[in-house]
Amino acid sequence: MKALVIANWKMNPQTLKEAKALFDATRKSAEKARGVTLVVAVPAVFLRELRARYRGRSIRFAAQDCSASALGAHTGELSLPQLKDAGASHVIIGHSERRAAGETDEGVRKKVRAALDARFTPIVCVGEPERDASGGHFNFVRTQLRGGFAGVDPKELSRVVVAYEPVWAIGKETPPPPHDIHEMAVFIRKSLVATHGEAAMSVRIIYGGSTNEHNVEGILTEGDVVGVLPGHVSIDPQRFRVLLQRAANC
Ligand code: PGA
Repeated sequence: MKALVIANWKMNPQTLKEAKALFDATRKSAEKARGVTLVVAVPAVFLRELRARYRGRSIRFAAQDCSASALGAHTGELSLPQLKDAGASHVIIGHSERRAAGETDEGVRKKVRAALDARFTPIVCVGEPERDASGGHFNFVRTQLRGGFAGVDPKELSRVVVAYEPVWAIGKETPPPPHDIHEMAVFIRKSLVATHGEAAMSVRIIYGGSTNEHNVEGILTEGDVVGVLPGHVSIDPQRFRVLLQRAANC
């Protein structure tokens, strides 16, 4: 199976001109990394323009968040129909930076439901703020999964991506060792099997937080995940090119 790479540009870059240059570099790197399925989560304001300048079919576009409502009085929000019209097929939901700004498990649940109804692929982020020796991080992630997946029918799980993103590893260069990622991936799958039955075996689990060109192979080969969600490395064209090449060889 091809490795799934979700490039999370976050709130970068500052201008459309820079976004076009970054996208062109990303596209060239993706063309040379055929063993990868690439999704770029660009700021929504650049979506339509970047989608329009891309004629290939191997790169997909994601929004970084969405409203759970389809339209109406929600100042400052973007609906899934609007994001689809602008070119997105995937949407990140519950990123820790959104959770830090007030997103709740209930909010995640509503958005995941809305994304599935709108035929989007939801990328649902879960992850603990810190680790302790007593294993509290497992309970933390289980609570996020129970909340976020409460409205998902088991049959729909094959359309969902879960991104394990330990908050303490985000924006750095040191992810947890692959063994710990593997352990959490198994835990996530077991938790979803407990709530949704065997259909949860079909959910795709990826890893994000300090993913870079040096650690991507270890994560993909030993972490029991089918993809990665790089943030800051995805806006550095040289580093991201190497990351994609290495992910393609896994
Ligand atoms: P990072 O970010 O790769 O910069 O750690 C990942 C994320 O926050 O999604």
